[in-house]
Amino acid sequence: MSRNLENLVVYQIYPRSFQDTNGDGIGDLNGIRKRIPYLHKLGIDMIWITPFYPSGGKDNGYDIKDYKAIDPLFGTMDDFKNLVKEAKDHNIGIMLDMVLNHTSTLHPWFQKALSGDKEYMDYYFFKDKPTNWESKFGGSAWEYVPHLDKYYLHLFDTMQADLNWENEKVREALYDVVKFWMDLGVEGFRFDVINLISKPKEFKDVVIGDARDQYTDGEKVLEYLQMLNKNTFGTKDLVTVGELSSTTVENAASYVNPKNKALSTAFGFHHLKIDYKDNKKWHIQKPDYSALKSILRTWQDSMEENSALMALFWNNHDQPRSVSRLGDDINYPFESASMIASMMHLLKGMPYIYQGEEIGLPNAYFESMDDYRDIESINMKEILSETFSKEDVVQSLSAHSRDNGRTPMPWDHTKHYGFSTTTPWLKFSQHNNLQTVSDVLEKENSIFNWYQKLIDLRHTETIVSKGKVFWPEDDHESLLVYGRSYGDETWLVYNNLEDKAVSISFETLPQTIILSNYNRKELKSSMTLNPYESLVVKL
Ligand code: GLC
Ligand code: CA
Repeated sequence: MSRNLENLVVYQIYPRSFQDTNGDGIGDLNGIRKRIPYLHKLGIDMIWITPFYPSGGKDNGYDIKDYKAIDPLFGTMDDFKNLVKEAKDHNIGIMLDMVLNHTSTLHPWFQKALSGDKEYMDYYFFKDKPTNWESKFGGSAWEYVPHLDKYYLHLFDTMQADLNWENEKVREALYDVVKFWMDLGVEGFRFDVINLISKPKEFKDVVIGDARDQYTDGEKVLEYLQMLNKNTFGTKDLVTVGELSSTTVENAASYVNPKNKALSTAFGFHHLKIDYKDNKKWHIQKPDYSALKSILRTWQDSMEENSALMALFWNNHDQPRSVSRLGDDINYPFESASMIASMMHLLKGMPYIYQGEEIGLPNAYFESMDDYRDIESINMKEILSETFSKEDVVQSLSAHSRDNGRTPMPWDHTKHYGFSTTTPWLKFSQHNNLQTVSDVLEKENSIFNWYQKLIDLRHTETIVSKGKVFWPEDDHESLLVYGRSYGDETWLVYNNLEDKAVSISFETLPQTIILSNYNRKELKSSMTLNPYESLVVKL
């Protein structure tokens, strides 16, 4: 079945942390199935599930050792089939995560390569000499294999070896993987770091930087995507989203421009780096809102020019929680979470909601360094300690560790928050006013309710799904304002990004309030927006 891309809303699930059903402290496929009615109530159309295939367990499933099976930790193939069916019965499609840039070093292909089999060595990059490229998880991007006297490339962990897409056999084998899941009724795919699949012909040392310019948006990315599309999901018109690492707006637009027949949508990360000092993840700064405005605008304008759709998102399993990052999860948990949500959801594109976002789940706030489980955080703790003070390491990790986005879902106030009957694999958020799903569902004006409204608006209002985005003049630093127009209808979306009141004035008094997170009932030509107020009006 092909779905309407323009008003589709996707919900992302990190299975390990969603719902455990067999008491091992790790979420599983049956847990997702159990919560389908909850997701249906929220109103989403599709769920993207991050990897649950057998893996080396080094990068929580992103180091796959068998592309066509289910890790027993998460369940069985029957559990998967039941999940697809249950979702379909609620008109929800399943989107799977395809990690096609690399495999685990435990994958049979790599194991054969290690045994010296030339055919399989050519599935990867084995070189006599390493370059000075850095791995995204720290350290060198090359690992030495003494018995072969060669180095293999791993842009991520040493156990994640990069695949050689130039090799036709590799491409064919990967098409086969995608088709395998299509045959099981999957309706969409998310392609992990897909703009890294085209490596340069020659591997060279770099003079400055970590070498990402050498392998990002390589020459053949678009061509490879077009082949993948033609040989797999394109035949059924399925929904796809590419994860684009350090891309440019031009490249992103080319991958998602419908006329290029590559991907339906893509994730770019520029708008999330506004709190990276000098573009460095572990160097934190206050979010730069003027950068945010210009990034959102540039990307929206470029997508419009290319008739393309960007993915709209703040959160995922690699990011800290937006309410803690950009909002105020102590004094304005509802106001800031709802403002952050509408600022993103009412743009043009395909919105993604990450588990927990709909209940305003905050960062992890772990008290001890030993509470972190993520490979990147564990590596960075060591690396940062060389140049950072102990306090700065703690501060950096607590602000930017991926574990912030991975704490288990607190469902209710029973022991282990209804997530499991035992201690979970990762601690719950230690925020001292943690709201659970049951708390939020009881409230009338809740963040859950706000997300329901945003989803509903996208489903029912053509101006939200198809309307043009425009950017009225505004000179207030902490205000982000944009407009939508379709036919003779116009909406304005006001977002106060900070905890200080801001005055605004309307040239013509709008007719209707579409949304207000302060329950506003009246408008005046000059008025004051409250801290983190989000106000959507129709002219
Ligand atoms: C993507 C995933 C991330 C993973 C990495 C390597 O960025 O979202 O979790 O570590 O790719 O596969
Ligand atoms: Ca389990």
